[in-house]
Amino acid sequence: MNRQNPICVALDTPDLERALSLAKALAGHVGMMKIGLEFFYAHGVKGYDALAATGMPIFLDLKLHDIPNTVAQGLKSLMALQPAIINIHATGGLAMMAAARDAVKGPTKLIAVTMLTSLATPDATEVGFAGDTQSLARKLALLSKAAGLDGVVCSPEDIKSIKTDCGTSFLAVVPGIRPPGLDAQDQKRIATPKAARDAGADILVIGRAITGAEDVQKAAQAILQSLE
Ligand code: C5P
Repeated sequence: MNRQNPICVALDTPDLERALSLAKALAGHVGMMKIGLEFFYAHGVKGYDALAATGMPIFLDLKLHDIPNTVAQGLKSLMALQPAIINIHATGGLAMMAAARDAVKGPTKLIAVTMLTSLATPDATEVGFAGDTQSLARKLALLSKAAGLDGVVCSPEDIKSIKTDCGTSFLAVVPGIRPPGLDAQDQKRIATPKAARDAGADILVIGRAITGAEDVQKAAQAILQSLE
């Protein structure tokens, strides 16, 4: 993980050529790249290796959620790829997270998704959760910490409470980042890169503010400079 550069660019595309050209253009300008289901399901290990060949660390955002044994075995298979970060769902429970912890060895950071930000409190209630999504996220962050995970994905506004509850070394990987003046698009709870960093974000997950720019290198550089 590049400690000097906290930007993780989200390559939200199933298109191998586009992902590769973004990765090549941004190597050296961001600290890490994130690939998810749409890329990995389409291109698998071959596509992953092609991106990894750019030398940029990878956050493999596959959000595993299954019984403990299956998640652990899945992670063991994925460990051959040695991603910088990999994630699971905290709602899989303590035993599942503990099994995941045992399966993820070496420098790979294991983090959890607490509550999906697409769920508002009524949606969470509908599937049987009690309480509002913010306190559920906080509770699940604590459970992730108890299972020995390295951190969580969280929204900018949750960074402070999670750091208070779980300690400053517990990683806050934060999406919903918008440089000043940029449209929120479909994100609801946003923060500027500087505000998120100042609140304690370890990694800033940034997609369209970089990938949608005419000059992606310039966009990444401007964000980096705004952090100083
Ligand atoms: O384009 P944008 O910067 O909004 O992209 C943010 C990235 O972070 C996307 O890959 C999105 O799926 C991801 N993400 C998010 N909110 C979460 C978890 C992940 O926006 N709670």
